[in-house]
Amino acid sequence: MKKFYIKTFGCQMNVRDSEIMVQILRSHGHQPVMDIADADLILLNTCSIRDKAEQKVFSLLGQLRDLRQKSANNQDIILAVAGCVAQQEGEKICKRMPDVRLVVGTQQFYHLPEMIERLESGQSAREIRCALAPDFTIPPFQKLFHAGMDQPGHSLPCSAQDQFKQFVTIMQGCNNFCSYCVVPHTRGREISRPATDILEEVRFYADQGAVEITLLGQNVNSYGTTNQVADIRVDFADLLYRVAEIDGIKRIRFTSSNPHDLSDKLMQCFKDIKQLCPHFHLPVQSGSNQVLKQMNRKYTRELYLEKVAGLREHCPDIALSTDVIVGFPGESDQDFAQTMDLLETVKFHASFSFKYSDRPHTRSASFTPKVAEPVKKERLQTFQARQDQISLERNRELVGSVQEVLVEQIHDQGIQARTGSNHIVHLGPHAHLKTGKFAMARITKAGMHSVQAEVEST
Ligand code: 5AD
Ligand code: SF4
Repeated sequence: MKKFYIKTFGCQMNVRDSEIMVQILRSHGHQPVMDIADADLILLNTCSIRDKAEQKVFSLLGQLRDLRQKSANNQDIILAVAGCVAQQEGEKICKRMPDVRLVVGTQQFYHLPEMIERLESGQSAREIRCALAPDFTIPPFQKLFHAGMDQPGHSLPCSAQDQFKQFVTIMQGCNNFCSYCVVPHTRGREISRPATDILEEVRFYADQGAVEITLLGQNVNSYGTTNQVADIRVDFADLLYRVAEIDGIKRIRFTSSNPHDLSDKLMQCFKDIKQLCPHFHLPVQSGSNQVLKQMNRKYTRELYLEKVAGLREHCPDIALSTDVIVGFPGESDQDFAQTMDLLETVKFHASFSFKYSDRPHTRSASFTPKVAEPVKKERLQTFQARQDQISLERNRELVGSVQEVLVEQIHDQGIQARTGSNHIVHLGPHAHLKTGKFAMARITKAGMHSVQAEVEST
């Protein structure tokens, strides 16, 4: 039996995969530990979306390897790499890093216990990696959690206090092939999970007391349209209606979406489903049609703005957030000005912005001319500075309003809660509030990344 510690990098898909790995390992008798120093199995669940994300993984891997080599007692520690870097660079890791004893691809982690057994019987990382075929489906919920499910206190150490808020993977992979994106290479083609299985998992969490569900996929809008395992035929909007029927679920969120697949039917959900949170993360990536074309995003700036208008028409209070890449190959000053102009037009509540980096196997890695690093840096700063001002303006719009908030964390200093629109709200200490409970709060002050509020009623 191993004492294991999982360190997670990257997106919510990875966070969710780590939770599942914890479950699977626990159900096979392995024990999670809170401190890496107590672990005899250290597993890094890695991200390769951007150059910087991957560098972080390799630098931690280097530190752990040095630590392991220096100390005699540490020889028994199993260093394992899972996730996107393992999927993409698995062969390289096996070759160059003999200290890494397990390499677990994004479609192999359901076999972790078997991998550990193979390791114990003397197989090498490469032998184990090659012995196990990737899973092209997500195993049924019941099978996944079999033994661990009904054990008392089966909750995961990383989310023990977060039971009220659960993430459910509805699909894996992506078929979009945006020219800059590594995901189709690290997560494979799009596969939708059977709706009955998803609904069963949501019901299970609702029975356990969950009030908020986030449906996860690289491109949730195309759920059910590709490669769905035989099941009730539902698209993403239908799935939302079905999740909303489950007792106890008060908030429904989802991520991520490609604007190109955002249907009118999905917009209608914001009118029809009261549990659907008024927040939409709609990555635009660039405001320039020329760049969007090179990115193979399959929409224009005009179409994007139409979708934004449609969403606001269906849900006037909706908060919009986005992702932006600056310095894509060939991006001119004029192209970047178009991105800034789109920011002014939409006035996103929040955005995540990144400097473009070449990723292995992507088409844009061969595109020229590359934008010089100082130019990328300057564009990123310009974008982020303006976004900060806009976020503050947006947050100020909330001041004076009363919002329903869900309490997420309670610290000595105060309480952190969240609105349906995904705004972080800081509340003063309050005797009657508990995590996972709702309260009505009057917003009193706006900051750039959060607001302050006073509790009106609980
Ligand atoms: N370079 C920079 N940013 C990227 N993203 C994805 N691929 C790259 C890349 N090669 C960003 C996109 C995406 C977010 C998750 O990461 O903005 O939406
Ligand atoms: Fe990173 Fe993409 Fe993998 Fe998520 S799916 S961990 S964002 S590379």
